[in-house]
Amino acid sequence: MKNFLDIHKTDKADLRGIIDNARAMKDARQGRPRGAPDDTRPLEGRMVALIFEKPSTRTRVSFDVGVRQMGGQTMVLSGSEMQLGHGETIADTARVLSRYVDMIMIRTFDESVIEEMAEYASVPVINGLTDRTHPCQIMADVLTFEEHRGPIAGKKVVWCGDGNNVCASFLHAAGQFGFDLTFSGPVQLDPEPEFVGWARGQGSTVTIERDPKKAVEGADLIVADTWVSMHDAQSAKERRHNMLRPYQVNAELMAAAKPDALFMHCLPAHREEEVTSQVMDGPNSVIWDEAENRLHAQKAIMRWCPGV
Ligand code: CP
Ligand code: NVA
Repeated sequence: MKNFLDIHKTDKADLRGIIDNARAMKDARQGRPRGAPDDTRPLEGRMVALIFEKPSTRTRVSFDVGVRQMGGQTMVLSGSEMQLGHGETIADTARVLSRYVDMIMIRTFDESVIEEMAEYASVPVINGLTDRTHPCQIMADVLTFEEHRGPIAGKKVVWCGDGNNVCASFLHAAGQFGFDLTFSGPVQLDPEPEFVGWARGQGSTVTIERDPKKAVEGADLIVADTWVSMHDAQSAKERRHNMLRPYQVNAELMAAAKPDALFMHCLPAHREEEVTSQVMDGPNSVIWDEAENRLHAQKAIMRWCPGV
């Protein structure tokens, strides 16, 4: 039994296995209705709890559909409606849930919640986003890049904007999958030095370039995300927008990258803020494949955790 807590906490070979398995499972489903079960039903008879302490569209639906395709059942729980939101400890919640369900996915604020859940649960725990990381998203992103362009190792990925949770998991993936990452954003919103240092320690070249046009030179992939994350104070919105406006991904910026550079965004996007509709809906954008691949990547994660 294994937890999927973060990309840098998961073995390199296991990460590669998850991506390859996701690809194989996706191929095996070609042309089937979304609701049709897979030929193999590895989660038959298993119950998965999906806990959300923050809003979600993709994570919620893709995990739910993924479990059902694999023959299992789900229970979607909102943190505020559980005793978890009313003072019961994470440890006690983990002990109790482990008596009912076979796997737990949780989206929460502080990463210590996931760590405590994993420590006290006797079933696998999966990180569905915290304030600091979003590992399932980046597994889907690696899958998406490789479907379109082959191995991501040695490629140049450019992150434009806020050095947030999604950026952090990209840094972890850079270290694990062997690609280079350039961060382009304002100094106040740099990614955490711990994550930059970790990726560099794995041999990945991590560059900080304040000028977005210079940053994207030679880029194979450009990535953007919201300028105000769910954990950011709404009162900081205007200040963040002012700082981040020069880092908008638009046609002019895309033109400064390699002609076949891909564009990704984990979504939800704010059109005409961090990215223009012209880029989102343009020929280099793979955002819908990226969203679909949440399903396939997470299915592979949910097989890897219990080893089925
Ligand atoms: N990308 C992502 O995690 O989307 P949701 O917040 O809709 O789950
Ligand atoms: N950085 C965003 C990602 C949403 C999927 C947030 O945390 O709100």
